Amino acid sequence: MVFVSGKGCTLFDDEGREYLDFTSGIGVTVLGHDSPVVRAAVERVLDTGLIHASNLFRTRPAEALARELTRRSGLDFAFFCNSGAEGVEGSLKFARRWARSLGGDEKHRIVALRGGFHGRLFGSLAVTDRPDFRKPFEPLMPGVDFVDAGSPDEIDRALDPDRTAAMIVEPIQGEGGVRPLPLPLLQQIRKWTAERGIALILDEIQCGFGRTGTLFAHEPAGIRPDLLVLAKPLANGLPIGAVLVSREVGGVMRPGDHGTTFGGGPLVTTVALAVLETVGAPAFLEDVRKKGERLETLLSGLGDARSSIVREVRGRGLFRGVEVEGMASEVVDRARERGLLLVPAGKHVIRLLPALIVGEEELERAVSILGDALDP
Ligand SMILES: Cc1ncc(COP(=O)(O)O)c(C=O)c1O
Repeated sequence: MVFVSGKGCTLFDDEGREYLDFTSGIGVTVLGHDSPVVRAAVERVLDTGLIHASNLFRTRPAEALARELTRRSGLDFAFFCNSGAEGVEGSLKFARRWARSLGGDEKHRIVALRGGFHGRLFGSLAVTDRPDFRKPFEPLMPGVDFVDAGSPDEIDRALDPDRTAAMIVEPIQGEGGVRPLPLPLLQQIRKWTAERGIALILDEIQCGFGRTGTLFAHEPAGIRPDLLVLAKPLANGLPIGAVLVSREVGGVMRPGDHGTTFGGGPLVTTVALAVLETVGAPAFLEDVRKKGERLETLLSGLGDARSSIVREVRGRGLFRGVEVEGMASEVVDRARERGLLLVPAGKHVIRLLPALIVGEEELERAVSILGDALDP
């Protein structure tokens, strides 16, 4: 099918068929398609006539977005770029620069989790544990150690104060199968990294920005990372990435150490600020939490039948994964034929990433179609 238009949680193809969109363009269009918030923000920028000036100059929208993101995250600097992978690359560079200032050239290694996904460029792919994505492009960036989230001892051993610059973690692994990291483990990782002078990078590109019912996915752990990477939903579909950085880590960067031509332009940052103000409102987040609980209840019902192929339902808020026996892609295909768009996460997990403005009736309809699609 070829999509030609969208409205809310619905996409329309060129033959006039409607699809209930539970992919949101892989976790991007949090305010749905044809959002009035986005439309109004775009129109405001067009009225100024300024959609690009480069980082040679200051512009108000970039500064306003930086202020708001740093205020809400408790971090101090914001670097804007154009995608998630570019944000991860930036975070790795910032962390290494800082670590080298503490411990010299030896202190450069990056610890990452097995099953994690951080992007497809040479640095972000190097910290991504997916052999099928990596193999055709090796050698990647050296100096990465993978550890198992199920083995805290292994993580403890890998975090070497003399050799490790940073650890990168998704609070909820997305591509890896919608796997939340236990909060006590996230807290323990924060403790170890802080004690050993190791930067903690949280990749919230998929799980962050309201999807789990809090603005940032790490909030329930009550921790503050040194670097926080955001992208996908930040401007509801316009390309943007952001690396939020502590004063300590960001303070070692010098002009010219890093850069990007398009990052932080007035168009994307105006839209992102409008999306942030909408998604970050307490009543909006409360609504996401309620709908997330409803979705969880509905999905749990799918596993009740003895014959069900559902093995587990995981996730938080409106970020859910249904692990099935057999191939998730086959279920996704059958759901699409019935008018529901879903996306697999690995071989056995069906991912549900609806827009955060999804309605209760749409949640019920989606789970009902998914239930039918589980049957071969
Ligand atoms: C957790 C995570 N990090 C990084 C990325 C890479 O983002 P992008 O595709 O915008 O480069 C993704 C994309 O799926 C992601 O889910």
